[in-house]
Formats: sequence, C-alpha cells, structure tokens
Amino acid sequence: MTFSDRLSASAAMVEAALEELLDSTVHVGETARPPRLMAAMRHAVLGGGKRLRPFLVIETARLLGREGPGVVKAACALELVHCYSLVHDDLPAMDDDDLRRGRPTVHKAFDEATAILAGDALLTLAFEVAAAPAPGVVAAAQLELVRGLARAAGLGGMVGGQSLDLAAEGRYGDTPPDEAGIRVLQAMKTGALLAFSVEAGAILGQAAPETRRALVSYGRALGAAFQIADDLLDREADTAALGKRAAKDADKGKATLVDALGLADARAMRDKAAAEAIAALALLGAEADGLREAARFTAERRS
Ligand code: IPE
Ligand code: IPE
Ligand code: MG
Ligand code: MG
Ligand code: MG
Repeated sequence: MTFSDRLSASAAMVEAALEELLDSTVHVGETARPPRLMAAMRHAVLGGGKRLRPFLVIETARLLGREGPGVVKAACALELVHCYSLVHDDLPAMDDDDLRRGRPTVHKAFDEATAILAGDALLTLAFEVAAAPAPGVVAAAQLELVRGLARAAGLGGMVGGQSLDLAAEGRYGDTPPDEAGIRVLQAMKTGALLAFSVEAGAILGQAAPETRRALVSYGRALGAAFQIADDLLDREADTAALGKRAAKDADKGKATLVDALGLADARAMRDKAAAEAIAALALLGAEADGLREAARFTAERRS
C-alpha cells in the first residue's frame, strides 16, 4: 500500500465511526440531541480534513501489532478534539476566519454561539469516546489515554498554545516572541495533539518504554514540521488549494517562523524537523515506514 492509500483507508474507517457518533440517535443518559447543535457539529467534523491525527494513532498502534475498535475510538477522540480546536480557532474573537476545509466556518454557516457550543460539545464527546470501554483495552491503558489527551489538549498543551499564539499577535501588549518563543507556542498549539496522537497509539500498542520514547520524539518533531509547513502554506499556497484563506497570518500579525526566519530558512527548518522525526524511529524496522512517510508527507504536503 502507498502512503496515500493508507491515509485514505484510515480516514474512511474514522469517517464511518465519526458518522455513527454524530448521528441523531439519543444515547442512554442523554435527553435529546438538539438538531441545530448536531448539524453544526457534523459540519465541523464530517467530510473534510486530512485526518492526519487519526492516521498517526492507527498507524502507530498497527506497527505495534494492535488494531480494532479501541484504536479507532482513540483515533476519533483525537480528531474530535482537533475539529473542536478548529471551530474555536476560526471564531471572530480568535483568528476570525470564514473558510475551513473548503466550506464556511461553523460560525458563518450557523452563528457564533452555536459554534462555541459545537466546540464545547465536540470536546466533551471526545472524552466520552476516549473513556468508553473497548474490547481488549485494559482499564489502566484507557486511563492513561484519557489523562494524556486532557494534558495534550489543555492548559499546558493546545489551549495554552492558542493563548500564546494570540498574545504573540500583540493584542495584550506583550513583546513579540523570539524564535525560541515561537517554537514553544507551536509545540503547544499544534505539536501537543500530534505528538499525543502517536503516544495514544503507543499506549494502546503497549510499547516498551524505549520504543515509546522514540515514538514520542518522532511525534514532537513531526508536530514542529507540521506547523512550519502550515505557516509556509499560508504564505505560498492559494485559498483554493488550502480550503482555508491563504495569506492571513501576516495580516493578523501572527508570530511565525516564516516571519522570524524568512522563507528559505523556514523551509530548511521544516525539512530538518521532518528528518529528525524520521531519525527518531531509527530503532524501529520497516514496520514504521508508514510513520516515516507521514513525516515526509507533513513536510511536502500542498494543503
Ligand atoms: C490545521 O490542521 C490546523 C493546525 C493545527 C495547523 P490540519 O492541517 O491537520 O487541518 P485538517 O484537519 O486537514 O483540516
Ligand atoms: C491552529 O493554528 C492551531 C489550532 C487549531 C490548535 P492556525 O491558526 O495556524 O491554523 P489554521 O491556519 O487556521 O488552520
Ligand atoms: Mg490560530
Ligand atoms: Mg487559524
Ligand atoms: Mg495556519
């Protein structure tokens, strides 16, 4: 299978599972699923996106010999947190974007309050899914998964990084971050969830400590490459290819490595980070080729 076949296969599996999670069936313990909120959540999640985080969960677990519903559930939990982060990232109070995955953003297609609530409900759904029992997943692993997801998503991870990202625009009067500061904010806003996607696969696959450390190093380096690529694409790609508005970071005064280093050095740093990700997998054999290709894809992607 080529990398793009593998990515499509895992995306299709995850799409079907997400579709089921977001259907109109009222579940035990729920009273009703308000249609407008459901529609906004479905708009945010279904039928778009590269599904890279789920791929990393599934591929990491697979290389450790683990497949099945517990892995797909964890993959869905990561994607749900990611989709919520995009809905909130696009809000007028944050990046104020109108286009996402080739469609109007949730607050444009619905309204701002519904977008806030859809994000809230996607985040809580993610934890419900991560905590639901699955065959073959022992309780200790599941707890580790839920706790790790919370850590990656919250104060010291994605949400914290988003806060630093907004501060770095200068809206609170902070001095703009230097290169090291930008790397920290990117490691948090983007790197934390990508790295935890790999770690979730390692937890489910019960990786030995040394293997798990290698996989986490891979995930961190991949996360760094991913955000630099995102910032480069903002500058170099067009809106149609991206499915989100291009050339917006400079307008917003976003602190990016493209801005701090220039295009050529940012490209070199992106490629170096992708190479570091691949190098981190040195102790793994051909079974990790899917992850190696994911690192190349991250650096070379056009959308
Ligand atoms: C976009 O993430 C937001 C960032 C973290 C830079 P992706 O590029 O993975 O977005 P989708 O899921 O493919 O739409
Ligand atoms: C977003 O980074 C990161 C998160 C959503 C956590 P960006 O603001 O650069 O992502 P895009 O460019 O809007 O997708
Ligand atoms: Mg943002
Ligand atoms: Mg944004
Ligand atoms: Mg961006």
